[in-house]
Amino acid sequence: MPATIIMGGQWGDEGKGKLTDALAANVGMVVRANGGSNAGHTVQTDAGVFKLHLIPSGVLNPGCLCVIGAGVVVEPGTLLEEMDGLAARSVDISGVRVSERAHVVLPYHPQLDRLEESVREGDNIGTTLRGNGPAYADKVARHGIRIADLLRPEILRRKLAIELDSKNRQLELLYGEASIEYSTLYHQLLGWGERLRPYVVSTEVLVQDTLAQGEEILIECAQGALLDVDYGSYPYVTSSSPTAAGACQGAGVAPMQVRRVLAVYKAYSTRVGSGPMPSELSDDTGERIRVRGREYGTTTGRPRRTGWFDGVAARHTSRLNGVSEVALTLLDVLDTFEQVRICSGYSLGDRVLRHVPALSEDSEAANAQWLDSPGWLRDTSQLLTYEDLPPEAKAYVSTLESFLAAPIRYVGVGPAREQLIDRFTPQRAAGSTAPVIR
Ligand code: IMP
Repeated sequence: MPATIIMGGQWGDEGKGKLTDALAANVGMVVRANGGSNAGHTVQTDAGVFKLHLIPSGVLNPGCLCVIGAGVVVEPGTLLEEMDGLAARSVDISGVRVSERAHVVLPYHPQLDRLEESVREGDNIGTTLRGNGPAYADKVARHGIRIADLLRPEILRRKLAIELDSKNRQLELLYGEASIEYSTLYHQLLGWGERLRPYVVSTEVLVQDTLAQGEEILIECAQGALLDVDYGSYPYVTSSSPTAAGACQGAGVAPMQVRRVLAVYKAYSTRVGSGPMPSELSDDTGERIRVRGREYGTTTGRPRRTGWFDGVAARHTSRLNGVSEVALTLLDVLDTFEQVRICSGYSLGDRVLRHVPALSEDSEAANAQWLDSPGWLRDTSQLLTYEDLPPEAKAYVSTLESFLAAPIRYVGVGPAREQLIDRFTPQRAAGSTAPVIR
């Protein structure tokens, strides 16, 4: 079956954008499945660095259809800005398609995101404040406005009146905030709808027709599986399912149509926002990783928390998602470390856990058990093949594989397209450009 899922195996920011961009060279369609403008996917090509939030990371491959699936929550202003920004840099955006079923992030959602965070009193989630949580909450509570509504003035008029009335009461009575004016918002939404109209389709029909023709598609998740609302460190999670199962749901693809699940893991760990991170480093080593890995949020600019690779958490996400192949990114960031560590267990009181506990309180209280190995102390960023990696780096990769129980096929050694080693394809000649990634 021809669908490949690309998902993050950790807390997001693993480099999914780079992988999607590389694989999109060989497919006609990339479908984004979940999340919203909370995501930040960075892709570097000869034309420069592109930071994408809503548009699938296949957009830099000419001719690739870039579908925003029903599982995504769309802030239309951000989407249009992103489209305009790409067009201004001569990127062809005619292949963008937006699901009519996707829910809209309305101006009151970021406002509520901020207000809800402010009343959590020291126990905040550390959200991106993009309104994703409140938008998904409205979706499942059946109070959402969808993209299809923006194209139908009469339907929008009725639904918005009901929703805004209740949101204004919440804003005024609960939070003492000013209410939002109906008419301005209504006309803003209609304007956005008109601009998006040429791109809005039944994406599930388009996706299924493409699969029926035997064509390959990629499904791109946002965030990472450790932020999953069911299997992540609840409540310090995002509000969607950045998992293989969530990818199917959000893209409109059936599980049996998926050929492979490619999970992206960093060679170490990062996390933004609150929540447990047993392998976190709050010392100079953590700062060295942050600086070498340029670990600052794409969406918020926040410094990311850093730590060693968490083998317990990686095993958790690899198993739950049926990961069939792994892309290990940012290996070069560890080039200058004399020793590298992997968290192999969580010690909690007199127990050692080999799985991720349900309660975040337990993960917070746990101490990491470490597996140490020597670093390689060599620059890997120019290496072209897996065989060229120093033996210590290969040993590190193979230890990670034992936690993941899946083959590490791709190894990232830098941000550029050509700095991605495909272990299973024949050797590349020095000086060649991007590898053909399949
Ligand atoms: P939200 O998705 O904005 O509600 O934020 C919930 C949690 O998910 C916070 O800890 C965020 O920092 C985190 N998060 C959301 N999107 C991303 C992402 O794209 N990369 C990394 N973390 C994210």
